[in-house]
Amino acid sequence: MTLILGIETSCDETAAAVVENGETILSNVVASQIALHAPYGGVFPEVASRAHIEAIGPVVAEALEKARVPLDDIDAIAVTRGPGLAGSLLVGMNYAKGLALGADKPLVGVNHLEGHVYSLWLTERDEPVRFPVVCLIVSGGHSEIVAITDHGEYTLLGSTIDDAAGEAFDKVARLLGLGYPGGPAIERAARDGDPQAYTFPRAMLDEGYNFSFSGLKTAVLRAVQPPHDGKREPKGEGLTPDQLAPGVNVADVAASFQAAVVDVLVHKTVRAATEYGATEIWIAGGVSANQALRRAMTERSPIPVRTPPLSLCVDNAAMIASAGYFRYIQGYRDDLDLDIRPMWPLLSIKDAMRREGA
Ligand code: KG4
Ligand code: ZN
Repeated sequence: MTLILGIETSCDETAAAVVENGETILSNVVASQIALHAPYGGVFPEVASRAHIEAIGPVVAEALEKARVPLDDIDAIAVTRGPGLAGSLLVGMNYAKGLALGADKPLVGVNHLEGHVYSLWLTERDEPVRFPVVCLIVSGGHSEIVAITDHGEYTLLGSTIDDAAGEAFDKVARLLGLGYPGGPAIERAARDGDPQAYTFPRAMLDEGYNFSFSGLKTAVLRAVQPPHDGKREPKGEGLTPDQLAPGVNVADVAASFQAAVVDVLVHKTVRAATEYGATEIWIAGGVSANQALRRAMTERSPIPVRTPPLSLCVDNAAMIASAGYFRYIQGYRDDLDLDIRPMWPLLSIKDAMRREGA
């Protein structure tokens, strides 16, 4: 039995978890900062790092306590190294290093995106995974399609050339005055709306596997903004409900926007899965909580679609512990002078070991 303590502080969740053999969650503690950032309509980096500093000690202690595992019994400490906010990553990284040094435990740095992929390893299934699998990773900072050919072996097929999918949800929600975080707010508003009320653009639908969502965001802005004199270019600031153009139905806009995002994500992922002979499609990351996305992918995919339970869609440390476990059992270790990587692409284990000289 191998026990990994996972620590995650890349954005606005302070999280710690204990996972057994990469697949069984013994504890999964998440302290969300949503209420702290809501007044700013997005994550305020300095506020985030300060909140992480306050929360990290109690959150780790609670994770060990809930798992009924003393630190001594932990085999390794897995910590998010990047990508993410530098000030936030630093808090988790330094805390993990302190624990690793003090308790004499190996340290394993984990890519946050790889963590999201491993949320699927924590998801119940009847039969073993057969590679290759194609995974759509959609979060506040990322939209990627990756082919997974083995544990820790990834080929990046496409990513966003501008806004991430979650970022588009957050920006459009702010524009419509729906609040933060935008994904759940748009999804809620869209329930009463007509997804065909507006025809929003589906950028680069049949071109490769990259995404672009900034044109969609602008199209939404133009649809809801009152007519102006043509001299001022509209800015992306939020409109209060009374500033929307007359006759705008927020539910219809939200539903039509969501349909456009979902359409592009599903279309490209299904095409990639077909081209790469995938046995399954996985969806991970915060946006994978979206029911419209889950439904459309399941309806339109010729192969099985797997999604994590809602609690594992958003940032958590169980997924970091699971990803860390699969690195750990392959012999991957990091030194105690490990640095954070705010911009860190998803690398296969072999490439990472080669590059890091590990
Ligand atoms: O993975 P995550 O918790 O953090 C990052 O790694 O970025 O993802 C957060 C993102 C936010 O942009 C949020 O608006 C989006 O996930 N999100 C959703 C939903 N729930 C969260 N987007 C669409 N529908 C949802 N239900
Ligand atoms: Zn994330």
